[in-house]
Amino acid sequence: MMVDGREQKALWFEDDKLFMIDQRKLPFNYEVFVAETVDDVAFAIKDMVVRGAPAIGVTAAYGMVIGWDNIEETAEVLRKTRPTAYDLFHAIDVMLEAFEDGRDPLETADKYAKDCIDRCYKIGLYGASLIKDGMSILTHCNAGALATIDYGTALAPFRIAWRNGKKFQVYADETRPRMQGLLTIWELKNEGIPCKIIADNAAGFLMERGEIDMVIVGADRIARNGDFANKIGTYEKAVVAKENNIPFYVAAPESTFDPNIETGEEIIIEERDPMEVTTIHGKKIMPDWVSVRNPAFDITPARYVTGYITEYGIKNGDEL
Ligand code: MRU
Repeated sequence: MMVDGREQKALWFEDDKLFMIDQRKLPFNYEVFVAETVDDVAFAIKDMVVRGAPAIGVTAAYGMVIGWDNIEETAEVLRKTRPTAYDLFHAIDVMLEAFEDGRDPLETADKYAKDCIDRCYKIGLYGASLIKDGMSILTHCNAGALATIDYGTALAPFRIAWRNGKKFQVYADETRPRMQGLLTIWELKNEGIPCKIIADNAAGFLMERGEIDMVIVGADRIARNGDFANKIGTYEKAVVAKENNIPFYVAAPESTFDPNIETGEEIIIEERDPMEVTTIHGKKIMPDWVSVRNPAFDITPARYVTGYITEYGIKNGDEL
């Protein structure tokens, strides 16, 4: 991804340390968080220094490198960080397998990270074929380079289409409570792609008015039947899109497809700190007596999905 006119990855490993763009501080401040221990890595995932399913997976892979000498305990600590994104568990399993096979930890994690980027690039190529001149496309949360190391899943088609000269605009839901829509706007602005943020509850209005031509979102875990978990608010966007005959695509790499579960009902939904709802960027916006429920994800049934944009092509639910 481009940051201030230069190529940049969301995280990188150097001198036995994991460096991550601190996503809690963006888009106001660009800071780098350095993880030197397994606890630092676990903190970074839990507190959302790093976020987005594939990026969490790559972070866990490097966390396993840091904790290689005590691998079972490391796996245990990292598995407990966040429950919903499948990539986390997939990456830990890949590293455990490497340990069993006596493979080099850093080489394995580097390959895992490189594969993640390659998969996203291919998602971008396939997804770009859906984008036509003049389109307005809605996305939810941030499924960009920040969430995947580079390119993104939902944002990869935008990057590739734009670089190929297509002219379109993006609407990004603000995505309360953590405002990941701001991360999306930040990424797209850095690429020069026209993008407007909208309040989460504005999407239905624009869809009903005929002002949205397509929706592309990412995913945190996809069941065998195509039901998927993604950031809270995705489900209602999918329902309104179907009501208005707007194509709704999910972009995700293999590492997000959980082969162990049949339907979305089996996905564990993370419930996060009420503080995320009662504050914005650390500033209180509600009185102390307000009681809160804060589910971080929802499940969208497969019947609302037009297609899954993967590194192997665009598939419908029957082809998964
Ligand atoms: O809680 P987050 O910010 O980690 O949730 C991220 C999302 O829901 C993304 O849309 C999803 O992980 C896809 S990221 C390529």
